[in-house]
Amino acid sequence: MEVVIAEDEDAVARLAADAVAAALRRPAPVIGLATGSSPLPTYRELIARCRADALSFRAARAVTLDEYVGLPPGHPQSYRAVIRRELVDHVDLDPDHLFTPDVRADDIAAACADYDRLLTDLGVDVQLLGIGADGHLAFNEPGSSLGSRTRVKTLTDRTRHDNARFFASVDEVPRHVVTQGLATIRGAGHLVMVATGATKAGPVAAAVEGPVTASCPASVLQLHPHVSVLVDEAAATELRLADYYRETFRHKPGWQGL
Ligand code: GLP
Repeated sequence: MEVVIAEDEDAVARLAADAVAAALRRPAPVIGLATGSSPLPTYRELIARCRADALSFRAARAVTLDEYVGLPPGHPQSYRAVIRRELVDHVDLDPDHLFTPDVRADDIAAACADYDRLLTDLGVDVQLLGIGADGHLAFNEPGSSLGSRTRVKTLTDRTRHDNARFFASVDEVPRHVVTQGLATIRGAGHLVMVATGATKAGPVAAAVEGPVTASCPASVLQLHPHVSVLVDEAAATELRLADYYRETFRHKPGWQGL
């Protein structure tokens, strides 16, 4: 695992965009996208690079991590709508090449299994991730099996309150979601977690330097051979090995990439 402490959220975004750009240079790339506020600067950076012809999503497919269950069709806070609005509609990705969990299927368990199989078949090259205040990854709440696959989960009250800012009230935040499982996420070739701001300092330290435990789902990152954790100074304040991470990044050979 590599932890990079960048000076601010724009520097974090540039590094995350570099990781996506590296994946986009592969033939038939598959990019894993995340929602939440944390990846938004990365999407703005990717859109700017695409407009400047510095990268292209033309050959790419994109997948998402999770989705609310039970929102009315076309709801602006469905994660499919969010990812279209924040990235896909502004770059040269074919919208038919955006894959999200089917939360309207009559047999939702079968739809989850289908989505999981699709991800395995496609082979995700790079997966962007945020982290929840309680250490959740995608919508894998504390207690999620480290071996979990795509399935329906129930949100904690804390996550519903955290996400209420996107809705008129907390009562409108769905209780149920479909999320890639922790083992599903581990199937991607490169995991890139972005976290900025002081509220993420505790969860980042728990995920990166604490025990690997279902109580902190993001700690599953420690089991993956290729992880980049990109944080700003505020999100790095509780990292015991912060000086070592800084030293390592300062002396990283230019050819190495993330
Ligand atoms: C939601 C998403 C997660 C995201 C988390 C943190 O719960 N399902 O994928 O990491 O929010 O969001 P933010 O980046 O807004 O803090």
